[in-house]
Amino acid sequence: MMPLIDPQNWRVQNWRVLGIETSCDETAAAVVACEGDEGRTLSNIVRSQAEHGEYGGVVPEIAARAHVEVVDTLVARALDEAGLELADLDGIAATSGPGLLGGLLVGVTAAKALSFASGLPFVGVNHLEGHALTPGLTDGLAPPYLLLLVSGGHTQTVIVRGEAGDCERQCERLGTTLDDALGEAFDKAAKLLGLGYPGGPEVEAWAARGDADAVSLPRPMVGRPAPDFSFSGLKTALRQAAHATELTDARVADLCAAFQASVTASLTDRVGRALELYEAREGAPAPALVVAGGVAANEAIRASLTGLCAARNIRFIAPPAALCGDNAAMIAWAGGLRLARGEAHGLDLAPRARWPLDEAAAKPGAKA
Ligand code: KG4
Ligand code: ZN
Repeated sequence: MMPLIDPQNWRVQNWRVLGIETSCDETAAAVVACEGDEGRTLSNIVRSQAEHGEYGGVVPEIAARAHVEVVDTLVARALDEAGLELADLDGIAATSGPGLLGGLLVGVTAAKALSFASGLPFVGVNHLEGHALTPGLTDGLAPPYLLLLVSGGHTQTVIVRGEAGDCERQCERLGTTLDDALGEAFDKAAKLLGLGYPGGPEVEAWAARGDADAVSLPRPMVGRPAPDFSFSGLKTALRQAAHATELTDARVADLCAAFQASVTASLTDRVGRALELYEAREGAPAPALVVAGGVAANEAIRASLTGLCAARNIRFIAPPAALCGDNAAMIAWAGGLRLARGEAHGLDLAPRARWPLDEAAAKPGAKA
């Protein structure tokens, strides 16, 4: 496969790539361009699956079917909004892991079919790399930096190093959750308080009306040397507190406020620890902290991390909400960087349900 640009001088020439994302419960398609050395999102279409609402979580089979139903339409809309046709593109990228296998197969197969029909190169992208490299698209930020990824499936701090588009070889995970992901913890908290799905925005809205000091909840892992996370004990404490008295609206608001205050305190402490470890590993403080994933939309969390970074003189970058949650622009961008380096995959590429970002450094059996 011909490199799209001179690998010695990557990101200097123009390219346009279509991205497809189907790893969880969002079907997404986007077109991203690299113009000069600047990224531009030409279209970014996301369809969230409301189908899972009544189950309080994502049902894999329902998700895969819903992806099949809309993926073609979304790709057509993404091209349309970008004002482009397939022939105007330089490549096609799809998330090939980690995620739910049925959904991944839908996106990867759609991308391969488009690649076969058009002759454009195809590249499979690690979803986590998409999140990790988003600040390059939104803020022109090149590694190194510390990434905090907080979503429904992941809670990790990662040193993103080296040249963008080379994450697998260059990233190092510092901390991860020992049990639930943070988004999952928000979703479970909402479910046990009788609120809707996804739970994060619900808990945040209710928390705004409550008093965090009215309920005492633990602040998991605070002060521990390893920068890992844990949220299942907090969930149990929340359940006990919820069962202790009648669940009036005022009480639900207080419980939400206390829950959000606990996770924010825990997260901020853990990220502070990761920043210390970053400095010890790299010999210099992190130039920036980047937050990504659906939970990064939470204002209380953003405010607390902003304070942490201000106190340490570290740049804080939170991509706009549309590029924080799952989207295809990040996949197009990460895929474009790989294609520009001369990488591409054959039609035999198999999606991977598990695929840690730091493949080499990941412990066997570690949760991706
Ligand atoms: O990255 P994302 O869109 O996709 C998946 O991981 O699937 O993250 C979704 C997660 C959900 O668990 C949702 O409850 C959480 O992000 N979330 C939030 C907020 N908005 C979304 N959590 C806390 N506060 C929010 N405002
Ligand atoms: Zn994600």
